[in-house]
Amino acid sequence: QADGEAAACSHSHLLAVCLGILCFLLVASISAIVYFSVLMTKQKSNLSVLTAENEQLITERNLLERETEQLSRVTDNLNWTLSIILRFDTFRVYEYCPDKECQPCLKDWIQFEEKCYLFYNEDSPWMTAPESQTHCRNKAADLVVIDSLHEQEFISNHTKYYYDKFHGYWLGLNTTNNKDWGWIDGRNDTLG
Ligand SMILES: *[C@@H]1O[C@H](CO)[C@@H](O)[C@H](O)[C@H]1NC(C)=O
Ligand SMILES: *[C@@H]1O[C@H](CO)[C@@H](O)[C@H](O)[C@H]1NC(C)=O
Ligand SMILES: *[C@@H]1O[C@H](CO)[C@@H](O)[C@H](O)[C@H]1NC(C)=O
Ligand SMILES: *[C@@H]1O[C@H](CO)[C@@H](O)[C@H](O)[C@H]1NC(C)=O
Repeated sequence: QADGEAAACSHSHLLAVCLGILCFLLVASISAIVYFSVLMTKQKSNLSVLTAENEQLITERNLLERETEQLSRVTDNLNWTLSIILRFDTFRVYEYCPDKECQPCLKDWIQFEEKCYLFYNEDSPWMTAPESQTHCRNKAADLVVIDSLHEQEFISNHTKYYYDKFHGYWLGLNTTNNKDWGWIDGRNDTLG
């Protein structure tokens, strides 16, 4: 009987040890789960912080890119303005830059592509060709030389019936020896 008790005793010992191990494993795995879920939460919040930072960086980069573009446009504009100013011996700042804002063409002149045009018309006395040319040259310009059909169309669009049918506007087209037509800048391509 003493042997039986010892066996029962060792059985219950074994059970206790087993239960102990089970308990330990349970506690260990619960702690592991808690630990990992805490770690995951931390990682997730780290990730969201990183994502937010990344998004902010992207926004800042886009902003910088836009500012750079804007700056380069300002620089181009300034450079262009400077190149115009440097063409003159004396630049009439009050005429070209009223209110401190520079414009490509003087008041009353019309811009078309790279040139400025003045259509001098009915409010003014009619002039001979040489008078007209002198008038233009006094304004740092010359009688118009037409480079393309597009430009011709622009000029056509802006000329009005003027003075009478025998007069009108002068162009920078002239005859050499009263025969061949040529532009006053020396070219003879008259587009027919
Ligand atoms: C301005 O234009 C000149 C040529 O006209 C060029 O050499 C120079 O690099 C330009 N400067 C800038 C800042 O764009
Ligand atoms: C000339 O005027 C016509 C009609 O108004 C217009 O369609 C055309 O674009 C103008 N051309 C130029 C070069 O200004
Ligand atoms: C046109 O040519 C004639 C000589 O052929 C010259 O007297 C006249 O000044 C010229 N006109 C212009 C506007 O160049
Ligand atoms: C202009 O035309 C003449 C003939 O009419 C020709 O001999 C001359 O080479 C031409 N000049 C130019 C610059 O095209």
